[in-house]
Amino acid sequence: METVLSGIRSTGNLHLGNYFGAVKNFIKMQEENNCYFFIADYHSLTTYPTPEDLHNNVRMVLAEYLAVGLDPEKSSIYVQSDIREIPELYLLLNMNAYVGELERTTSFKDKIRTQPNNVNAGLLTYPVLMAADILIHRANKVPVGKDQEQNLEMARKFAKRFNHLYKVDYFPEPQPYNFGEELVKVPGLDGAGKMGKTAGNGIYLVDDEKTIRKKVMRAVSDSGPTEMNQKMAEPIQNLFSLMKLVSDQSTIDFFKEKYNNCEIRYGDLKKQLAEDIIKFNAPIRKNILEISEDSAYLRKIANIGAEKARESAAKTLKEVREIIGFKPF
Ligand code: TYM
Repeated sequence: METVLSGIRSTGNLHLGNYFGAVKNFIKMQEENNCYFFIADYHSLTTYPTPEDLHNNVRMVLAEYLAVGLDPEKSSIYVQSDIREIPELYLLLNMNAYVGELERTTSFKDKIRTQPNNVNAGLLTYPVLMAADILIHRANKVPVGKDQEQNLEMARKFAKRFNHLYKVDYFPEPQPYNFGEELVKVPGLDGAGKMGKTAGNGIYLVDDEKTIRKKVMRAVSDSGPTEMNQKMAEPIQNLFSLMKLVSDQSTIDFFKEKYNNCEIRYGDLKKQLAEDIIKFNAPIRKNILEISEDSAYLRKIANIGAEKARESAAKTLKEVREIIGFKPF
């Protein structure tokens, strides 16, 4: 049995990118593995949520995990900040992480470009904290979308370096878990790039019908094809990619043919896409709203999950401290 670890940052609600890039697989995964699913709330501090938002965001992601079908009987579902061993392992791994390699990661370089006035050390060491999340359970599989590939590579590097430094074979090198499929990238509605929480180009699982219609109708498109079988520009490809996730094949074929014959009306395509997203979201949204009201249930799940995760984390940290050479007097 493999140990699988997966995380979601609690910067906001889950969007379709999270669902189709990662969460959909969590549900299958929990049947066959020893799974840890957690909410990365320390990671969310790089953007300074208010104390109320911090707690509400965690609560919503927990409700969403449960609403899409994660089973707390089969897996451990917990909040990162409930496990105090994680920051200690993070501190220890930081001693083995070089500033140069952290500065070279794509996500850090992006942050320097997009928020030059707030390049905090938490952003620089983000991959080290992520490695601590994974290595604290000595997980060997981590389900991620394409955007997290490099962070996972860093986790492998830190694991290997620790083993080498202390001449042990202690940490496994965690591999992506994707059921043999290619890593997925779900596009956003703004015509370029991935759907993301900070990009504001996403549709959330909890969005109501009106919001979904409004967002989809505003999605970027172009002025339409002028030649038969014309190559699609990225914004149009993105609309079809989203359709592929939620619509029937016959619907996709219908609009593809219209596009190829230069008869397409993007308004019609968007209307259909919005209705199909609404249909897909409806049962999940209902569950989210119900579960998020039930504070006693959420508290129970978070406490049970934390207990299970702490047990595994405490064992790892004890062994790591021994390997490094800490000894009680
Ligand atoms: P986060 O919260 O941005 O995303 C959670 C998961 O959703 C996937 N994902 C996507 N997949 C496809 N298309 C998209 N548009 C898309 N957007 C998000 C991500 O790949 C991820 O699998 N740093 C992590 C959280 C984290 C973590 C960890 C993950 C902290 N520690 C340890 C795994 C292991 C993050 O910000 O993911």
